[in-house]
Amino acid sequence: MSRLVVVSNRVAPIDEGKQQAGGLAVAMAEAMQAAGGLWLGWSGEVAETPDPEPRVATSGRLTYATLDLSQQDLDEYYNGFANSTLWPLFHYRLGLTSFSRRTYDGYRRVNARFADALLPLLRPDDRIWVHDYHLIPLGEELRRRGAGQRMGFFLHTPFPAPELLVALPRHREIVRSLCAYDVVGFQTDHDVRAFANYTQIEGGGHAEPIGPEGCRIAAFGSTVLVRSFPISIDTMALSSLAEANANSETTERLVDSLVGRRLIIGVDRLDYSKGIPQRFEAFQQLLEDHPEYRGQVSFLQIAPPTRSDVLEYQQIRRALESLAGYVNGRLAEFDWVPIRYLNNGFGRKTLAGFYRAANVGFVTPLRDGMNLVAKEYVACQDPVDPGVLVLSRFAGAARELKAPLIVNPFDIEGTAEALHTALSMPVEERRDRHADLMAVLTRNDIDAWRQAFVDALTGPPVPA
Ligand code: F6P
Repeated sequence: MSRLVVVSNRVAPIDEGKQQAGGLAVAMAEAMQAAGGLWLGWSGEVAETPDPEPRVATSGRLTYATLDLSQQDLDEYYNGFANSTLWPLFHYRLGLTSFSRRTYDGYRRVNARFADALLPLLRPDDRIWVHDYHLIPLGEELRRRGAGQRMGFFLHTPFPAPELLVALPRHREIVRSLCAYDVVGFQTDHDVRAFANYTQIEGGGHAEPIGPEGCRIAAFGSTVLVRSFPISIDTMALSSLAEANANSETTERLVDSLVGRRLIIGVDRLDYSKGIPQRFEAFQQLLEDHPEYRGQVSFLQIAPPTRSDVLEYQQIRRALESLAGYVNGRLAEFDWVPIRYLNNGFGRKTLAGFYRAANVGFVTPLRDGMNLVAKEYVACQDPVDPGVLVLSRFAGAARELKAPLIVNPFDIEGTAEALHTALSMPVEERRDRHADLMAVLTRNDIDAWRQAFVDALTGPPVPA
């Protein structure tokens, strides 16, 4: 069987005791441990003169190859084009999107460096799977260097509508790079449609539908298979972890601290795409519209800071500090604080126990590729007495999961009403909704997701 080669900006830590690096790295670690193979990415380190050769280490069936970045690389590629241009643009935040030729050149330069580092490690029958917006041009760079292997790309974020994408000065180059892959995967049918629309409008392309989830697109001189592959979680493993941690010491400390109050939980990287300010406002609205909840419900928001060199992330952090302080200052009582706002992250076991203890999972991004927290919250519930998921219609997960309470996070009053519905929902309805959600999550778990993509990647070359 041919080897799977994965390339992503972040690589899951080799040392299992270390804190995980985020949704993509966790999901891929779970998928890759089953399959084995080679995984290339950024080491997370900055070096004065980075070694062009990757450091190689092996753990079980997986070989890791990691590269350091220079400070200039980090500024231009990661903080610059990836997280100050593509990230806000792909999340529909044109007002936060900045563009400069300098950061774009840095982005291309780092992609070329990744290609130079990967090329000598490749075997002729490898299948290469590139992940996320940091590495869109990698496939094209590898092709330029003569790599003929099957190559696929999966975008973990949303893909924006063409009207937005054209605001990016180099939009054609970005989409042309995507067309260098054999397979391009997106989270949802919306993203597939946006990509197909762009290639037709801007690239003179032609799309031929293949099944309900995808199409074959001919554009920019290539033919590419484009499909949705909604990413998932290790549903059964997480469910067991939550059951095992239902009464762990940390979970009990949380439950004891509530002294019989109910709990709403939110867990997100501290990112402006996650809609956390709107969430605080909706909770405040709930307490205003339904004063009976005052002193009876606590909202725990866990939000570890991320990308803190980028100005917009510093701004959202300050805004949330001020909003949490405002709400608590207005509504707290001497023995109850409405919002428990934490900037530290927790390990998977602890989070699994916290999710299980929470009556409501509050997941309201303004725009999100998928949102694995939504799926994790569901998997961690006790099927006999499950909590309720309140989910934004703008999370990719809402295209797949039909049984949560779906909200528009821009509608603060509507979201507050959904919190009330969740907190007052009879147990029979909670069980029915939870069973529906679990049926989807056991059918499409992380293994099914990986297998579906790898099968598409292994398929016959797309005829030109
Ligand atoms: O797709 C977005 C994403 O790559 C997630 O998969 C991941 O959780 C997060 O961003 C990590 O962000 P960063 O590597 O910038 O900390």
